[in-house]
Amino acid sequence: PDRLLLLAIETTCDETGAAILEGPKPPAEGVPRILSSVVSSQIGLHKRFGGVVPEIASRAHVTQVLPMIDEALRRAGVGLADLGAVAVATRPGLVGALVVGLTAAKALALALDVPLIAVDHLEGHLYACQLAFPDRQVFPCVGLVVSGGHTSLYHCRGPLDCELLGGTVDDAAGEAFDKVASLLGLGYPGGPEVERAAKAGNPRAYAFPRSFLHDDRLAFSFSGLKTAVLYAIRGPNQERGPVQPSPAAIPDLAASFQEAVVDVLVAKTRQALKQTGLKRLGVGGGVAANARFRQRLAEMADRIGVQTFIPPASLCTDNAAMAGIALIKLAAGQTSDLDVDVAAGLVRP
Ligand code: KG4
Ligand code: ZN
Repeated sequence: PDRLLLLAIETTCDETGAAILEGPKPPAEGVPRILSSVVSSQIGLHKRFGGVVPEIASRAHVTQVLPMIDEALRRAGVGLADLGAVAVATRPGLVGALVVGLTAAKALALALDVPLIAVDHLEGHLYACQLAFPDRQVFPCVGLVVSGGHTSLYHCRGPLDCELLGGTVDDAAGEAFDKVASLLGLGYPGGPEVERAAKAGNPRAYAFPRSFLHDDRLAFSFSGLKTAVLYAIRGPNQERGPVQPSPAAIPDLAASFQEAVVDVLVAKTRQALKQTGLKRLGVGGGVAANARFRQRLAEMADRIGVQTFIPPASLCTDNAAMAGIALIKLAAGQTSDLDVDVAAGLVRP
């Protein structure tokens, strides 16, 4: 009776997710518990295009969103009538994809007569740290989101109070992994493929650029790195060089690229920690699934006495459970009206 069940929906990009979380009924506060979380990946649909095709993504959400909700309810052993609130990520993302999840959430909130809570996908990525470590205090912290669309550092005073410190001026880290994977003739999405190839490679085989490394700004740039990988593939004869690397060169190229990305992410995060004086670090987004990155980041944080919170991979890549931040918003009275819209880009609520 003092507990509240939340249905959370995720359709910002190319994963259709639904989750059931249980939290204390507001005004009581506490970290919600994940009862179930399911994701239907669209990777198979987008693979042959080498990236996410927005219209295909929208259509796949249309067919998958209700089955995922059904499955999340079934796994949690609860029914629609048990739900006390419905949450959905409404920004940032692909508009056509966001609309599908939002419309499903609105219909359910209206039919069940429960609150609707719109959440920010990036705040969700960082809140995943708190969900993954429910008995620890994660906030206040430096927040790092490293995904396919974002590479951003935040000063998070609380889960709903994250101030942007800096981000990428061009490609996101995950986007760089995806583009370099494509240059190397590896599959999509590129992150896991590059990581696999890098295992057999020498991270110091190629001296790839590390942008902004010795710069006071908390900014990232990965497009020069991507171009450097292309030049390395082409070799000395840039005009007529091959556009595909020799299979023997792929592990070294992958390992050297990955190390360059990790070096920059670790250095800039260290800079943000020094600058803010914060002693906790929360990390989210698909790139945080990368084992080398996790290891290097944890080593750096250990050295400077900072506690690191990186969720397991399933909570780093897109999922609905992270929209469980909605229970914090509900406790703060931040519910949405049924005419709430989606937003492609970053907006402040
Ligand atoms: O957070 P996410 O699932 O979706 C977005 O919100 O963008 O992140 C997806 C990104 C992709 O670019 C993918 O290549 C990257 O995360 N990624 C990885 C790894 N797993 C996923 N990058 C590096 N290493 C990985 N193991
Ligand atoms: Zn994401």
